[in-house]
Amino acid sequence: MNKDEHYQIFLQEVQARKQNLADRLRDFLKPTQAFKTLEIGSGHGDFLVQYATTYPERFCLGIDLITQRIEKSNKKARRANVAQCFFLKARAEEFLESQPAEFLWDEIFVLYPDPWPKKRHHKNRLFQVEFLDRLALRVSLGAKIHFETDAKDYFDEVCGRMEVHPRWRKLEGRIYAIDTVFSRITGQQGHHAVFECCEACPADPISS
Ligand SMILES: C[S@@+](CC[C@H](N)C(=O)[O-])C[C@H]1O[C@@H](n2cnc3c(N)ncnc32)[C@H](O)[C@@H]1O
Repeated sequence: MNKDEHYQIFLQEVQARKQNLADRLRDFLKPTQAFKTLEIGSGHGDFLVQYATTYPERFCLGIDLITQRIEKSNKKARRANVAQCFFLKARAEEFLESQPAEFLWDEIFVLYPDPWPKKRHHKNRLFQVEFLDRLALRVSLGAKIHFETDAKDYFDEVCGRMEVHPRWRKLEGRIYAIDTVFSRITGQQGHHAVFECCEACPADPISS
């Protein structure tokens, strides 16, 4: 098999995964649900379970790539008795493409995303321009994104991109106390920003 054939198979697998996710999300994500909160890269689930305990009426979903972390997080949520808090294994980029177009998040947390510190790896960071455009199509007017990292250059990169984005503006201060496994590992307060969606979502060009 040559390189091109391998790539075609890879694309087919991605497409099949997105279709499978879209089928599952259609029943799971209902636009009528109350205030909707998404955590991307939820890790061990500590932050979202705590948040859901404080706001039990909110619908909370954490997504992460690592199966073990998802299983552990779901157990934590059940133990804490938070009925509206769920964790799902999914890649953020594919998740945002696969969720129902009419379902809009009110709040999104991205806490200590992988920093990819080497310059040649920066292209692997989650907050690429395309990702921000996609996020902007998946939130309600006034929705907030909470971003925290210990990597100052990543923080500046994201703030710079958000500041020129037509649908986001930066707010002052932090709204929630952030306590995650990685915030504890770094041992110091991370760089934190809150961005608010300041324009209504246009017609969605990416939904199927
Ligand atoms: C450094 S850890 C931080 C976890 C947690 N937010 C915390 O602060 O403890 C980054 C997490 O993001 C997840 N992750 C990385 N890329 C992702 C992606 N594209 N979609 C979803 N999760 C992702 C990783 O599996 C990992 O659990």
